[in-house]
Amino acid sequence: MDYEAFIREQVDELRRTVGDQTAINALSGGVDSSVVTALGHQALGRQLKTVFVDNALMREGEPQRVLKTFSDMGIPVELVEARRDFLSALKGLTDPEQKRQAVTDTFYKTVFGKLVRQSGARFLLHGTILTDIEETVAGIKRQHNILAQVGIDPEKAYGYHVLEPLKGLRKDGVREVAQLLRLPAEVTRRIPFPGPALAARIVGEVTEERLATVRAATAIVEEELAGTGAFQYLAVLLNDYATGIRNNKREFGQIIVVRCIESTDARTADVTELPWSTLHRLSERITGIPGVNRCLYDLTPKPPATVEYV
Ligand code: XMP
Repeated sequence: MDYEAFIREQVDELRRTVGDQTAINALSGGVDSSVVTALGHQALGRQLKTVFVDNALMREGEPQRVLKTFSDMGIPVELVEARRDFLSALKGLTDPEQKRQAVTDTFYKTVFGKLVRQSGARFLLHGTILTDIEETVAGIKRQHNILAQVGIDPEKAYGYHVLEPLKGLRKDGVREVAQLLRLPAEVTRRIPFPGPALAARIVGEVTEERLATVRAATAIVEEELAGTGAFQYLAVLLNDYATGIRNNKREFGQIIVVRCIESTDARTADVTELPWSTLHRLSERITGIPGVNRCLYDLTPKPPATVEYV
């Protein structure tokens, strides 16, 4: 495929479709929404409003990092502070599906839906790719009707349009386009990170305190394993406690699981054979996090396990 031509065609198409109106999109920092943002701004400039929602579930420094990446490219992104909305929606929830639903609903209905309506934009840019469509058709993914998700009935609210410039591409194509658009390597080579963010890595209730624990563990895992070239690596906070000993005192502490996998498309995965010295260092650093006294390495491939824990 001629990706230069693809970019030209999509830019022309976006300009033709949006005309002198305005469009809006949400940037998560992942490669798909980053490419849509860069492509959209190339086509529409100030007619496109891009928002980044701080949902309290991000990794250490992530909102600042994403905003800086785009401001370095001359693309303005508006940071929308919505931490309380997400934390209160997650309060008391322990069921994995309910937690995922709470994150999705808060994002689309409460936060982004309101922004779309307030912005007066008639066009919504979305980073749907071919794989998303195929997996929805195959029943692997839930149906993502973005307008329905933001609480807009396209029949009643006549005039809303969803534009999906990447819907003909798979991930490798998106990465090619990302490079041509000069997105930095931290975006194009970013390891997969789930939509529900750190909420997918906390078994049990998501609280600010538990988020801080898994966030600290995630930072350690990403730092120690960045050089492995593995497909994905992550930290998970379990809902169990175990007895340990610190400063000669018995304590009932939290448990972090480290997961590191080899895969091509995340549909199946094998566990990375990490050197013992790396595992040892991980364990030492992770048990230095306040309240954590055990660190486990997950040996389970997918299937039967999934990559995430929630
Ligand atoms: P599982 O846990 O289903 O994950 O084996 C497979 C791959 O998908 C990522 N993942 C998600 N990505 N939204 C995303 O964009 C999600 O809700 C989501 N859940 C899981 C996961 O990190 C892994 O790479």
